[in-house]
Parts: sequence; C-alpha cells; structure tokens
Amino acid sequence: MTQFNSISQRAAALKPSLTLEISALAKALKKEGKDICSLSAGEPDFNTPEFIVEAAIKALKDGLTRYGPASGDSELREAIAYKVTRTNKVPTKSENVLITNGGKQAIFNLFQVILNPGDEVLIPSPYWLSYPEMVRLAGAIPIPISSSPNDGFKIQLESLESKINNKTRLLILNSPCNPTGRVMQKDELESIAKILRHHPQVSVMSDEIYEFLISKNSYHISIGEVAPDLLNRIYIVNGFAKAWAMTGWRIGYLSGNIEVINKAIALQSQSTSNVCSFAQRGALAAIQSPKEAIQEMVDSYNERRRLLTQGLSNIKGISVSPQEGAFYAFPKLPEDITDSLNFCKMALEKVGLAIVPGIAFGDNQCIRLSSAVSKDTIFDGLNRLNKFLSNR
Ligand SMILES: Cc1ncc(COP(=O)(O)O)c(C=O)c1O
Repeated sequence: MTQFNSISQRAAALKPSLTLEISALAKALKKEGKDICSLSAGEPDFNTPEFIVEAAIKALKDGLTRYGPASGDSELREAIAYKVTRTNKVPTKSENVLITNGGKQAIFNLFQVILNPGDEVLIPSPYWLSYPEMVRLAGAIPIPISSSPNDGFKIQLESLESKINNKTRLLILNSPCNPTGRVMQKDELESIAKILRHHPQVSVMSDEIYEFLISKNSYHISIGEVAPDLLNRIYIVNGFAKAWAMTGWRIGYLSGNIEVINKAIALQSQSTSNVCSFAQRGALAAIQSPKEAIQEMVDSYNERRRLLTQGLSNIKGISVSPQEGAFYAFPKLPEDITDSLNFCKMALEKVGLAIVPGIAFGDNQCIRLSSAVSKDTIFDGLNRLNKFLSNR
C-alpha cells in the first residue's frame, strides 16, 4: 500500500484541541440519548448582550459588508488603544494595535512574527493548551515551567530564571489563568520584570483574555503597568470572547511594539485579511460600554466558581485551591491517580461526567472543570464526581 505522504512535518506534529474534542464527544453521547453532565466547556453560557448584537446588525444594514483594512477598523483600534492606556495603564496608540480573528490569531501571528526555528519559549505550567502547539508551528520549542497545586500554582521564580538561556525568546504569562483561575499579584509581576531586565533577549506575551472575569476583592494587573521600561518587548493578547460572551464573533487583538505589529499586519494581509467587518462594530460597542454592562455576568461567574470550588473541597481525595479569576477549577486528583486522560474517559463512561484531563494543560494529576454552566449542572457534576471516586 502506498503511504499518504502529503502531510507536512509541521502539520503531522499538530495535536487537535483536547478540550474541543471532549466537548464534542459529550455532545455526541448526549445526542445518542445518554445521560451526560458536561463541565468541559471553555466558553460563557450567556448570550452576547443585546446592544452589541444591535450594533452589528446596524453595521450590516449600513452596508459594512466589504473588505476593510487588514489591521482592523480604525475606530476599533483607537478604542482598544484608549482602553489599554486607561484601564491597563499601558500607554498604547492605535498603530500599536492589530485586530485579529480572536485571541488565538493574535497569539499565532505574534509567534510567526517573532520566533525563529530553535528559539525557546517559556510557558508556566499548567498552561492553556494551544500555546505549545502554536509555538511548535512557528518552529520554536516550548519549555514548560512547572508549578504546584500545593501553593496555588504560583510561578517558581528560581525555576523560571534557571530555564533562561541565549535561545530563550519569549515568556508567556496568562492571568487570570486558564486552566487554574489564578490571578497574578503585583509583587510577582515586579519580580518577573526584575528577572527580565537581566535578559534583554526575552520578550513577554501577556494573555489577558480573562481580565474582567475576576472576583470583587481581586484585581488584574498588566505587566506593562509595573515595568514601563520593558514596554518595547511586552505584547498584550486580549479579546472579546470571554468578558462579553462573544466566542463565535471571533474578535481579539494584539498590542505592542509597532515594528512587530506592522509585520503581523503584513502576515494577516497575506493570509486571512480583515476580521469580519460588521463583527468589529459589535466589538466597538462592547469596548465603549460602561463596565456595568458585563457586571451581572461577572457576578454570576464568581458565584458559580465559588460553589464549584467549595463543592470540590468537600469531595474526599480531591484537593483544590480557591482562585479569583476565569471560570474554571483545576483540582488535584488523589495521589494514586496518575493518568488524567484515562480518569476522564472512565468518568464519562461510568457516570456520564465530561471533564477535561489536566494532561491537556501540562499537569497529569489534575482535571479541569468549568463553572460556566447552570448551578444545577455544577451540583450534578459534583455528585457524579463524588460517586465515581467513591466507587472506583
Ligand atoms: C487563555 C486563553 N487565551 C486565548 C484564548 C483564545 O480566545 P479566542 O476565542 O478569542 O480565540 C482562550 C480561549 O479559550 C484562552 O482560554
């Protein structure tokens, strides 16, 4: 038999997203009539607020249906620059902003533009599962920096510094973090900035997509605020998917150094062109709205994250550290369980519980559960997990 050999080496090494796979499997089983409880989703369970939908409908009716600039709508770039400057306290001009097809394309473009084959990228673990794949697609090498659930997944600074060498090009920060929900504190960011000052070859990508999904007594800080002297090598990735419940709209942005942004615009102009024109008008309405527009959703995520974490802490064998951001819990399984993928497959088979194995995020001892589901689903999921663990 002749072997099919048309797949590039790049593509051959690519793994599909395990989170999307588990969600799809749970949906398929549900469709077959199986009783499935899914805590696997990574997206808001709200509809996009009406005023955002109306803005996009108006744009369509006004004829905003043609090609636009590859860099994004000028008004939206301007509004994002204003928001990053005011809210994140990182001085930014519209020329420093590129509108992308979700946060994902912002990350992809950045890696393609700044990484060379053999470069190393430091990724604090647990990490969002697309980072290493996109690093590899750029020919670079992901270098995980492990952390422990025992101290709430704090980045170990000695470990971080020990992994820096002359091939290191980028450090990825993600706060609030998917999957752990951890919010980085000001002193930690300052310590990281201090390390980076000794290593001018290392840039930072700060993924802040969950910045607004944070509990009342916590606050999000962008590393650019604490290290204005490093702004020339700090890149912010953000998007509209999570805070405004706009996952399907596919709007994100990259901001930073103008030379890199211009190259990313060139890349986008030769690949995908502009992000959907009328969707950008929805994003403009979102970013210009008062904070109160999303407060109800934020309060609801906070309440449900708290319920999920509390419920998990009552399950024998599970240890969980309460976190302040995003809408996930990332508890540790009992010590004798060392294969999170097998654990999740068995949980789906035996008690119809769909959850994501920690191995997808670089930690085989944990599982990720989403609280962006109804409270009833959270309680149902907790009961099933308890039952599964007690009967194994
Ligand atoms: C940490 C993190 N960064 C980026 C993204 C990408 O978001 P988007 O849907 O805007 O591409 C996600 C989505 O799940 C995420 O969890």
